[in-house]
Amino acid sequence: MLLLAGTILPTVAADLRLEPLPPPAQVNAAMAELGHHLFFETRLSGDGSRSCASCHVPSKGFADGLALSRGYNGTEYFRNAPGLLSLRLKPRMMWDGRSTDLAGVVREMTTDAQFMNGNTLIIAERIRQIPPLHAQWRRVFGEKNELRGEQAFQAIAEFLKTLDYAPGSADAALRGESVLPPLAGEGLRLFAGKAGCVQCHNGPLLSDGKPHRLGVPDHPALVREPLRTISLLRHYAEQNLPSPMSERGDVGVYAISKQPAERGSFITPALRGLVHSGPYMHNGRYATLDEVVDFHDRGGGAGSELHPLGLSAHERQALVAFLRTLSGPLQQVDVPPAYDYGTVAGDRR
Ligand code: HEC
Ligand code: HEC
Repeated sequence: MLLLAGTILPTVAADLRLEPLPPPAQVNAAMAELGHHLFFETRLSGDGSRSCASCHVPSKGFADGLALSRGYNGTEYFRNAPGLLSLRLKPRMMWDGRSTDLAGVVREMTTDAQFMNGNTLIIAERIRQIPPLHAQWRRVFGEKNELRGEQAFQAIAEFLKTLDYAPGSADAALRGESVLPPLAGEGLRLFAGKAGCVQCHNGPLLSDGKPHRLGVPDHPALVREPLRTISLLRHYAEQNLPSPMSERGDVGVYAISKQPAERGSFITPALRGLVHSGPYMHNGRYATLDEVVDFHDRGGGAGSELHPLGLSAHERQALVAFLRTLSGPLQQVDVPPAYDYGTVAGDRR
């Protein structure tokens, strides 16, 4: 059921367990603006070389277009960098769902050796030495308060709450305000019917936010490139996974929950904005939506929860056409100026 223009209308959306995007979040605008600057600030990273935007590129739906993320200089990561839109609607973040707290994810991204290798005390000191940024900081957190690096995570999280997927043509159709082109309309019916996609991909982001195992084959680089193997084993050590050396490939949610039933499962991703954010899956194994739909149609890979669907080529195309109607245009995000360091405090002219 959806509240529309004062009346409660039963909609197609409710029947299909799909929902249009909700209205924008209420945020502290000054804090979000500070977070916007910090999102592009390379000096949050240990050696000042990279910002959040290095791996979450606004023109790529805040993903990076690579199958596997590069990781911090000299490391290589073992998973795909996800896009960062409508995070406020995600109950669990990271491919393995290891975090439920947005500021906590920002802290991990900023301080972890795999991502930005930053240090809260150095971050605080650097910001103190960038006068326009420091002034902005004071306006948000107060003139008299001590500047703390932790507040950077809070500000970036506030900025992230303002980033949403743009509605696609599917949203107007789900509200009953327009109809989809015939092929995409057929795709929608398959999605909610015979193809059973809606079982896991539902709600406003088309994700149930829960772990599922599809048996996506491991990316060959995980064994071929030692730096990626090292990153994966280091992740297992950090999560206290028993006997990590006997694991083959990425065990996903299991490394966090230690529930054997969750071995090889990953949190269902959102299906919005996909035209901007490929390659797809936790390890970027598939470059196109056609490949992803073919994979689901085959019933996934080893140990998958999916069953083969036996869709015709036309039906697979219809599903892809529907997926495309879930993407709107990318929001333009300004790159703020990178201010120079000022002179050391007490030595100002
Ligand atoms: C070196 C590349 C890199 C940098 C730099 C980086 N990220 Fe990430 N980010 C990733 C990867 C890879 C993941 C997925 C990790 C996983 O699932 O194990 C991720 C995941 C995330 C997520 C979870 C998204 C979701 O839908 O689950 C958020 C939020 C995020 N990053 C925000 C940030 C912010 C904010 C910054 C800057 C402080 C940042 N990232 C810097 C690569 C990077
Ligand atoms: C049993 C739950 C389940 C069902 C049913 C399901 N999916 Fe998925 N889907 C997932 C999970 C989990 C992933 C991520 C798998 C991974 O990375 O290992 C995924 C990934 C995707 C992706 C890639 C998104 C991205 O950003 O990487 C697309 C597209 C997709 N599914 C479309 C579909 C379509 C179309 C259907 C119906 C034919 C469908 N799914 C049915 C659980 C499901």
